[in-house]
Amino acid sequence: MPEPLVLPTITNGEHTLREWSHDDIEVLREAATDPYIPAITTVPQPFDPATAAAYIDRQKDRARAGTGYSFVVVEGSRPIGNIGPWLRDLDLGRASIGYWLVPSARGKGTATRILTTLSDWAFATLHIPRLELYVEPWNTASLRAAQKAGFREEGLLRSWQEIGDNRADMLMFSRIRSDTDQTRNRNG
Ligand SMILES: CC(C)(COP(=O)(O)OP(=O)(O)OC[C@H]1O[C@@H](n2cnc3c(N)ncnc32)[C@H](O)[C@@H]1OP(=O)(O)O)[C@@H](O)C(=O)NCCC(=O)NCCS
Repeated sequence: MPEPLVLPTITNGEHTLREWSHDDIEVLREAATDPYIPAITTVPQPFDPATAAAYIDRQKDRARAGTGYSFVVVEGSRPIGNIGPWLRDLDLGRASIGYWLVPSARGKGTATRILTTLSDWAFATLHIPRLELYVEPWNTASLRAAQKAGFREEGLLRSWQEIGDNRADMLMFSRIRSDTDQTRNRNG
C-alpha cells in the first residue's frame, strides 16, 4: 500500500503549484467550457458546484492514496489549471505527467514553464529517473510545450487510450533525469 503524500508548494517566480482547495472551485467553471479538458480528465461538464467539489476531493485523494501529486496552478492569486505526476509506475522508475490550463490563461508560455518547473522538481526531489507524457498528434500546443520543456518524442502508440467515444493514438514523450544532469554539467 503506497504511503500518503504531502504536497509541497512549488514556485517558479511567476506561478505557484500547490494543493487544491475548495476555494479554487471557480476555475472548474471555465475548464468545463473547454471542448477537450473534460474529455481527458474528470472535470465535470456541465459545471455544477457539487460535482466540481467532488473533482477537488478526488485531487486531494490522489495524495492521500499515494497515487499521484495533483497541483492546482496559480498565477498571482488566480487558479488557472492543473498539473501533476501520476505515480502508478513509480516502482518501475517512471511517472507520467498530465496538465491543463483554462483557455483564458493560454498562449503565453505558461504550459512550457510549469512543465519545466514540475519536471525539475520531480527529478530533484522525487528522484524519478524517467518522466513521460502522452499527447494526441493534433495537439500542437501540448507537443510544443513538451519539446520546449526538454521532453523528447519517442513514437506513436496506436489506439492507446479511450478519449470520448474513440480510441486515440498518442505520441509518447519522455524526459530522463540523466538528460538534465548532462545539461547541468555542460552548463557548469
Ligand atoms: C496544452 C496547453 C496546456 C498549452 O498551454 P499554453 O500555456 O497555451 O502553452 P504555451 O503557451 O507554453 O505554448 C506552447 C507552444 O504551443 C504553441 N501553441 C499554443 N497554442 C497553440 C494552438 N492553439 N495551436 C498551435 N500552437 C499553439 C505556442 O505558440 C508555443 O509554441 P512556440 O513557442 O513554438 O510558439 C493548453 O492548450 C491546454 O490546456 N489545452 C487543453 C488540455 C490539453 O491539451 N492538455 C494536454 C494534454 S497532453
